[in-house]
Amino acid sequence: MTHQHLTVVDHPLVQHKLTLMRDKTTSTASFRRLLREISLLLAYEVTRELEMTTTRIETPLQPMDAPLLEGKKLALISILRAGNGLMDGILELIPAARVGFIGLYRDPETLQPVEYYCKVPSELDSRMSIVVDPMLATGNSSVAAIDMLKAKGARNIRFLCLLASPEGVARMKEAHPDVPIVTASLDECLNDHGYIVPGLGDAGDRMFGTK
Ligand code: URA
Repeated sequence: MTHQHLTVVDHPLVQHKLTLMRDKTTSTASFRRLLREISLLLAYEVTRELEMTTTRIETPLQPMDAPLLEGKKLALISILRAGNGLMDGILELIPAARVGFIGLYRDPETLQPVEYYCKVPSELDSRMSIVVDPMLATGNSSVAAIDMLKAKGARNIRFLCLLASPEGVARMKEAHPDVPIVTASLDECLNDHGYIVPGLGDAGDRMFGTK
């Protein structure tokens, strides 16, 4: 099956909430609430291709073959720490999902990812994996996280973020052309510090109230 490599979710609710999140005067509490709300809408889009089956049920009126999700529970993989903000909302929508965490920090000098934690669900070869990280900036962390998942057998992978840079999308397309990306916005560029512009600042700091 061929996938569209990049999907920008241009739904009015997503775009409205994203504008509020970008605004530097938005409080930590509001940012967190908006992130949870927007993640529900993005999760709807990223799970569009989940496999379906049918099951025989009886409504109060008659029997029918009704659609149902098929296969193993999907795996949600959060790239720590900012990925957790997207994860919370998605788990409300898909409470049975299996959850994994990949800890990577970005070396401020080289901007290269350094691994410090990896705990992911078993049988990744027979699940859809959705990797979540709000900011697809250089693409280095997401490429490294997906390398790690593929080494553990994952094949059917999606990447979900809030904002993407053209540089990050290009890097992902080069390294993992088989991984579709779903985002709320493709922003203009990266600045010299690897921040997405216009962006929303440091997503982790904004959701956790750190500096
Ligand atoms: N990480 C962030 O939190 N923000 C950016 O703009 C880039 C990477």
